[in-house]
Amino acid sequence: MREDRRRFLRFLAASPLLAQAQQIPGVIDKPADALNVMDFEAAARKALPPAHFGYLQTGVDDDETVKANREGFKRIQLRPRRLVDVSHADLRTELFGTVWDHPIVIAPVGSLKAFHPEGEVAVARAARARKALQILSTVTTSSVEEVMQAAGRPVWFQLYPTSSQEVMSKLVRRAESAGCPVLVLTVDLPVGRNTETMERLKRTDKRDCSACHPSDPGAGLRRKPMFEGINMTNVGVFNPAMTWDSVRRLRDSTRMKLVLKGIVTREDAEMCRNSGVDGIIVSNHGGRADETGRSTIECLPEVVSGAGDKIGVLVDGGIRRGTDVFKALALGARAVCIGRPYAWGLAAFGQEGVEKVLEMLRVELELVMRQCGTRTIPEIGRSVVLVR
Ligand SMILES: Cc1cc2nc3c(=O)[nH]c(=O)nc-3n(C[C@H](O)[C@H](O)[C@H](O)COP(=O)(O)O)c2cc1C
Repeated sequence: MREDRRRFLRFLAASPLLAQAQQIPGVIDKPADALNVMDFEAAARKALPPAHFGYLQTGVDDDETVKANREGFKRIQLRPRRLVDVSHADLRTELFGTVWDHPIVIAPVGSLKAFHPEGEVAVARAARARKALQILSTVTTSSVEEVMQAAGRPVWFQLYPTSSQEVMSKLVRRAESAGCPVLVLTVDLPVGRNTETMERLKRTDKRDCSACHPSDPGAGLRRKPMFEGINMTNVGVFNPAMTWDSVRRLRDSTRMKLVLKGIVTREDAEMCRNSGVDGIIVSNHGGRADETGRSTIECLPEVVSGAGDKIGVLVDGGIRRGTDVFKALALGARAVCIGRPYAWGLAAFGQEGVEKVLEMLRVELELVMRQCGTRTIPEIGRSVVLVR
């Protein structure tokens, strides 16, 4: 019996299959080794403490909406046209009068220093190098002024309304003074949320988290640079009392363009049109707000139809491939935002990782555009996709 076992082990050791298996890289150790943006997910998991990875990955409840965001893209097929001269492709994209090199935008993600010590500044440098638009979160761990300097061009500022009108006005003034041309009001988190995956991973983290995170969550908020010098006593980021009247007041209080992030229905898109809103980001917060079970790519067509042609519509949620970007543009989005993929890149390799993620998506998009006979962004019309 023992001899059989020995023989079997000798056979295994000599097997070319085992040699092959040993060569298959599990986790990439440099950005250049990535074959797609998903490769950065495992690298981020390896680089981060479990609690921080949990914050990055979590959805809400059963994470069904996170999964739906990916599944939604599988229901859309492509209809490539042949014999078009696709020697060149032009990915330039216009948003509120500014022309960007491509339609891939960096979504606001809070607390980026939880993933890498250079946080939002590393992302800004990557955005500058890869000519991408960056949207900065209210709960950024670097100030808007620092980020703007690193980006070398204006970034958009994402606004959580907060439970205080005064605090909200101060944030708006600061973003305006820093030179942000666009204010992105997030409207999908009026109350709390149930981030169960994050809680589970937190429990596996054996470090003493209280060394970095105060036990009082309000204190964590007060330490964020955008709240510096503001009295945050009893103020939270959510505002359950916010209504369309609040949106109109905000609209009248600033010269920045106003974009609403978190719209998923035709009715609300129509309300945007009637409330002076300039743009919409179709978003479910990457499945981190309410467990709707509905993907953003499914919501996009009804929002585009409700918004009419004067309001620019962007979309985010589950975008991991150039084909996903292509499908979103075909269904009426002017641009797309990515969240987790660039945060994975940041966590694993800092600025270089973010750059590689942006570049891979751009290259994949260019490839599918040319494969489908579409040479410019406006040429990506509704007829290039089939929704099952
Ligand atoms: C870790 C993390 C933090 C986020 N923080 C914010 C935020 O501060 N403000 C906001 O409007 N959205 C926030 N989002 C949502 C993103 O802006 C975006 O809607 C979402 O990540 C897109 O989905 P994706 O991650 O599948 O690409 C966050 C998302 C993640 C993953």
